[in-house]
Amino acid sequence: MGRKVRVLIVGSAFAADFHLYAYSRCRDIAEVVAITGRNKEKAHALLKKYGLENCAVYDDYMRAIQEVDCDVVDICLPNYLHHEVAIAALNRGRHVICEKPLATTVEDGMDMVETANRVGKKLYYAEDWLFAPALNRAIEIIEEGAIGKPVFIRARECHSGSHSPYAQTIQYCGGGCLIHLGIHPIGFILALKEGKWTELTASISGGLGNNLMHKKLEGEDWACCIMKFADGTSAVVESNYVTKGGMEDVIDIYGTEGCLHVDITFSSPITCYSIPGLKYTVEKAEITTGWSKPAVDERFNLGYVDEIRHFMECALKDEDAKVGLRGVDGLEALRVVHLAYKSAKEGITIKNERIGVRP
Ligand SMILES: NC(=O)c1ccc[n+]([C@@H]2O[C@H](COP(=O)([O-])OP(=O)(O)OC[C@H]3O[C@@H](n4cnc5c(N)ncnc54)[C@H](O)[C@@H]3O)[C@@H](O)[C@H]2O)c1
Repeated sequence: MGRKVRVLIVGSAFAADFHLYAYSRCRDIAEVVAITGRNKEKAHALLKKYGLENCAVYDDYMRAIQEVDCDVVDICLPNYLHHEVAIAALNRGRHVICEKPLATTVEDGMDMVETANRVGKKLYYAEDWLFAPALNRAIEIIEEGAIGKPVFIRARECHSGSHSPYAQTIQYCGGGCLIHLGIHPIGFILALKEGKWTELTASISGGLGNNLMHKKLEGEDWACCIMKFADGTSAVVESNYVTKGGMEDVIDIYGTEGCLHVDITFSSPITCYSIPGLKYTVEKAEITTGWSKPAVDERFNLGYVDEIRHFMECALKDEDAKVGLRGVDGLEALRVVHLAYKSAKEGITIKNERIGVRP
């Protein structure tokens, strides 16, 4: 049996759960050796769910980073902690997987990328859209020329609001729905376009009383960003927290010879009508009664399983991740988000002064 990548997961809530699911399908190359959680009982319960009762549990992540013998630290903590944890792990000589967004500020993101370069460790940016099988099939279709030259992309991630208390304030989250959800379509499109955007114009609901629905949410609950690219094409990215009925991850791509429409979350082969309701249908669905499209292998279809496998394969070979999944790519997505906030706040179109420059 070959060597396995030893992983310390930092955090033990929602994201840690789907990462653990992904690791459970990569046991041939990955071994979760420890996890951290402020509430050790919850962490133990999560480990039990995946048959990992022997895994070490720490309630102090800094201590875990110093003590645990591992190759990779996988950060599943709220956005505002990504920077501190990544810097500690990189300085401890570990590769780092960081959930989106890379950080809350561009400065913190740059520090993470620079630290990884300085210590010679890899910073992996967990953009799961790049592993969603439906999107990879869409890319194949585009690459075979079936829709001609793609000229316009419309993409969105929307739902009714984050479950996480840390998504409710700008200090903890970095913004509202744009940084929390919109960063997925932004990261995906930047990867397709090799980061070569030329200008962007954004509009957002203003947060708190200016929001469409969430009047207590500090960040925006609706955001839209128009982007133009060096190849003459354009995109519209939308994210919002005003979408009831379950999470929408939808991408439309229009080409000179055709078009394609991808619905990642509601494309189940099952259509169900239930009077009592199901235990679960799709992420963020408020109710499960009546007609529904119950997700089949949702975490795989959202890309988490192949994303973790890719990072494990890269870590084994001491290699960087694919385009779109490196620290620099997470940094560029974060930079776009913050420039979109600037555009919306000042009512201006922003030109990309760093086009072609490696962030
Ligand atoms: N890729 C995706 O689709 C996706 C989906 C959901 C979340 N995420 C990302 O994953 C990360 C975690 O999100 P989540 O939904 O699991 O959040 P969550 O609120 O469900 O969990 C956060 C965890 O961090 C812990 N925590 C908070 N402050 C802490 C502190 N000071 N010290 C130690 N622990 C602390 C909490 O106790 C909790 O266990 C976020 O960056 C989020 O953006 C990504």
